[in-house]
Amino acid sequence: MDSDKQRIDYLRETLHRHNHNYYVLNSPEISDREFDMLMKELEELESRHPELYDANSPTRRVGSDISKGFEQTKHIYPMLSLANTYSIDDVDAWANRVDDGLFGQRTTIVGEMKFDGTGISLIYEHGELVRAVTRGDGEQGDIVTDNVRTIRSIPLRLQGSGYPDFFEIRGEIVMPWKEFDRLNAERAEAGEPLFANPRNAAAGTLKLLNPAEVSRRGLDAYLYYLLGENLPFENHYDNMEAARGWGFKVSEAMTRLDSIEEVDRYINHWDKARKELPVATDGLVFKVDSLRQQLNLGLTAKSPRWAVAYKFAAERALTRLRFVSFDVGRMGIITPVANLEPVLLSGTVVKRASLHNEDIVRALDIHQGDMLYVEKGGEIIPKITGVELPARPEGAEPVRFVTHCPACGTPLVRVEGEAAWICPNKYGCLPQMVGRIEHFVGRRMMNIDGIGEETAALFFEKGLVRNIADLYELKPEQLTGLEGFAEKSARRVVDGIQASRSMPFERVVFALSIPYVGETTAKKVARAAGSIDRLMQMSVAELESVEDVGPRIAQTIVDFFADPSNVEIVNRLKAAGVQMEMEQSADSEAVSDILAGKTFVISGVFSLNSRDQYKAMIESHGGKNAGSISKKTDYVLAGENMGPAKLEKAQKLGIPIIDEHQFLALLSQI
Ligand code: IVH
Repeated sequence: MDSDKQRIDYLRETLHRHNHNYYVLNSPEISDREFDMLMKELEELESRHPELYDANSPTRRVGSDISKGFEQTKHIYPMLSLANTYSIDDVDAWANRVDDGLFGQRTTIVGEMKFDGTGISLIYEHGELVRAVTRGDGEQGDIVTDNVRTIRSIPLRLQGSGYPDFFEIRGEIVMPWKEFDRLNAERAEAGEPLFANPRNAAAGTLKLLNPAEVSRRGLDAYLYYLLGENLPFENHYDNMEAARGWGFKVSEAMTRLDSIEEVDRYINHWDKARKELPVATDGLVFKVDSLRQQLNLGLTAKSPRWAVAYKFAAERALTRLRFVSFDVGRMGIITPVANLEPVLLSGTVVKRASLHNEDIVRALDIHQGDMLYVEKGGEIIPKITGVELPARPEGAEPVRFVTHCPACGTPLVRVEGEAAWICPNKYGCLPQMVGRIEHFVGRRMMNIDGIGEETAALFFEKGLVRNIADLYELKPEQLTGLEGFAEKSARRVVDGIQASRSMPFERVVFALSIPYVGETTAKKVARAAGSIDRLMQMSVAELESVEDVGPRIAQTIVDFFADPSNVEIVNRLKAAGVQMEMEQSADSEAVSDILAGKTFVISGVFSLNSRDQYKAMIESHGGKNAGSISKKTDYVLAGENMGPAKLEKAQKLGIPIIDEHQFLALLSQI
């Protein structure tokens, strides 16, 4: 037994060290295989000795797959933001203000990277990570310790010595480009929406309720600010170097700068060199090194006077417009697209960029053959930001918006007050018809396995499926003759269609492609109506009383069902056995036991489901409902206007309070 304990201690320490070598120093000393074997041994020993549990054991890095919702806590020191500057002159002006504020004392400036992720505050006690808190509103943030424990470059237990008993260290959680690309590729494959940039991806990942998924996503963390009472040094730079020695990842780019010329050189160097870094950066940060001088300079309401951010100009390229094409969406909206001479921008070749609508084409005053500026300001979607007028070819004509649909030739119409031109030929315009079928079968709609965008287009082209109701009349023998369709893939399609008959009514409403009715609106409308028959009868006024439905959406829903071809499709779907009403009883049937042993107290008003529906969901997943909060409560599911007495009691007992989004995420993620 004693020797087990010794071995556990040894393994924990060894694995912490190897983690640091690998994730912080980038210089592993043992092979992955050897590492895995040590980890396995530790896991086995820990499972035999639950009494030796340690939240900071290296085995916790993989994350448990059960997590509480996030509790909030107040920051010890508020988390401020930084004032931004955009030129060396602005930075110079800041340095002069610093000099004035310090009555001309000599100052040293520290230059560092501005990492483009999400801020984090880490609290260490006696060398152990005890809490990780997001920035939140600057005053208080979410406690995300379980998720942060999975980030391998964050030390769970510090190395070396000389760290204060209690201190806070702040930094940025980032998603390296490599992981970001991998995650987005996976999401594209699964038909899920892509993250626009690594910042959103890092912030979104940190708020997941499933630490095992967080662990899988490869987050990293750079630390840049040490706070506390007994810091080892009187200046920022040396403190950060000390933190590096305790095992934190501190950027190698951190440098002391002694003059404005050095600041200028630093900016010029990193403006280019940052492109080689494995993570996204959106600028640099300059800080006064001396902590005493920092204190003397003090803070404004929002940011410290002793630091300033310098933002890099968005990356821009100049390239020639080949032509403007016009895409037709499933709702008939016409989107102008600039087709460009291929140009390299932030590591990818850009050939097309959306011009969004006619107003934007006009505002940019684009002419045929213009040289255009393309930017990618930390986003993955390129944007046309301007025209290089001196390069305009002589006699070039302005780009004119099409007056007729490029796909079917129908004259376009423009809805009053809207920027978009629309092709009104809903039932004769190919991209609209195919687009609606593609939407219907999509993962977040009817999720028909075996039919993707290309298959939907093929079925349409072959005349097998001209609208969504036709899908339910497909016969396996019609498919087997098609190119690329073996018996197995035909079977998959037929099975997928069969399974879609039991998709919940909310999804069916979304899948119908009612203009402006997105996923959330579809849910609310479906729940309010209860059935398609009722929905088809609802008046504009009745629909407007549904949360989130304004007069415009209400009118389009009424118009949609006033169209006989839509009514016919709905009737055929109904006859085919597609769910056309909310399932009343399903919620109370046992769906899973993932909430087994968990007691919930529900309080407040909800927007996505009613209280009764939440109660039923808890029971159907094996959980229990209780009327009042006690030590036995595992979660409080809180809506708007939760009673203050309940709130206080829950906080006092340390019971996690989760909102409905977190609750729903819990059900789908565990
Ligand atoms: S120092 C009081 N240093 O930028 C100043 N912040 O716009 C504390 N950031 O909220 C921040 N890299 O999330 C500092 N090297 C760096 C940074 C950095 C990125 C973020 C941080 C902060 C935001 C301010």
